[in-house]
Amino acid sequence: MKYAFVLGRVYTLSIAELVAIMEQQDATLGLADNPITILESSPELLLIETKLPLKIEVLQKRLGGVIKILQIIDTLQKREQDSLNFTLKHYFKPSTLKKQFFKDYKGKMQFGLSVYLLDADLAKKPALSEKSFSIFSEPKRLGMMAKKALTDMGESVRLVLPEFNSLALASVAVTKNLLLQKGAEICVLAGKHTVHVAKTLSVQDFEDYGRRDYQRPVRDEKQGMIPPKVAQIMLNLAGCKPKATVLDPFCGIGTIIQEGLLLGYRVVGSDINKNAIRGSEQNLEWFRNRYKIAPGKYGLEISDAASVAGLIEKSGQTINAIVTECTLGPIYSEFPNPKEIEKNFKDLGDLYTKSFREFAKFLPSKARVVMCVPAYRRGRNDYNMMPTLDFAEALGYNLLEIIPETVAKKIPFLKLTNRGTAIYDRKDQIVAREIVVFEKQ
Ligand SMILES: C[S@@+](CC[C@H](N)C(=O)[O-])C[C@H]1O[C@@H](n2cnc3c(N)ncnc32)[C@H](O)[C@@H]1O
Repeated sequence: MKYAFVLGRVYTLSIAELVAIMEQQDATLGLADNPITILESSPELLLIETKLPLKIEVLQKRLGGVIKILQIIDTLQKREQDSLNFTLKHYFKPSTLKKQFFKDYKGKMQFGLSVYLLDADLAKKPALSEKSFSIFSEPKRLGMMAKKALTDMGESVRLVLPEFNSLALASVAVTKNLLLQKGAEICVLAGKHTVHVAKTLSVQDFEDYGRRDYQRPVRDEKQGMIPPKVAQIMLNLAGCKPKATVLDPFCGIGTIIQEGLLLGYRVVGSDINKNAIRGSEQNLEWFRNRYKIAPGKYGLEISDAASVAGLIEKSGQTINAIVTECTLGPIYSEFPNPKEIEKNFKDLGDLYTKSFREFAKFLPSKARVVMCVPAYRRGRNDYNMMPTLDFAEALGYNLLEIIPETVAKKIPFLKLTNRGTAIYDRKDQIVAREIVVFEKQ
């Protein structure tokens, strides 16, 4: 079976999450005894081959960094100069379309057409003098070609196309137009010399992520909240076995706790601030009812992270991993001066040292700590990062490459830092999150 994962905006983290999940051999995702080979990748896509089918619906819900999961139906060769439209001109036959893409649906069928790039150069605009084609006209031309084939055989169909100047339908458009229920989304994955034709099996439930973020009774704009998708990615990077117990010792209003519960873990949350714990209580009560989480799956305590061991020991629980967005220091609307950044890193370094010393008292060997460290965004791909992460190494933790080197060396476009971590940032934020994974020795 061949699949393609459509990656999120911060594609390095999407790939890190996918690689971590694939290593887990989880039978509920169809990953047990199922050898996987990575075939190809680009900043938009990761293509894999598996021996057995994957459990797509479960997998889609499990992944914070994957926008769509596609099944690759066919692969065609193409000459570099050929348009997609030319390459596929004999492919979109009514019989192929009906058999490979469309479910039996009585009524007017709706289908969409999206193009994804395996070679970023294909998006470069051709010079006016060149008799070349623009990739941006391809979704429409391909869509019209498929539509004609279907209408010629008497089908009544409606075509949904990407917005102007974009090549692919957003997951919102796939969902809102009921494409997977009433027809299909046909995806054309374009490389320099090959074209894969794929169909969308699932899309990320953007509404549910919105609900998990914005419909909670309590929010905390001042301290900041981690987006649920990022919390999910971090939990997946912790590599926990099903039903593990995870600790978030800087839990704030509980985003990592709720996402951990949704992944089936037991979660303990603590925070130094009693208002944060009160917020977590309210949010998790709402969450538990909304998402049918069994009672007793989480615990909340007020505690300084630097003295959290007593609490864990008293409860007699084994903590299998720590996943946390430790405080990132002050939030800025303008780039702070270097002295201020230096002071922030020093203060945070002290807090991290005290906390990691404490965690070492109860974390078992090989347990992971996945955390966010601030990185000040100077410009596109240019950050002022914490000068050293020695605080953890000196206390018996190894810094792990967020994507193992054996995989990373085959993917040249990854945006990894010099120390093998990755940064989650947003254009409008000065303080970005560096995602760091440690393993207790
Ligand atoms: C960035 S917020 C975490 C937000 C959380 N991830 C969420 O989405 O709601 C950092 C939290 O660390 C807490 N904190 C700061 N210093 C702490 C300490 N020494 N021990 C425990 N918690 C601390 C703050 O009260 C704050 O709630």
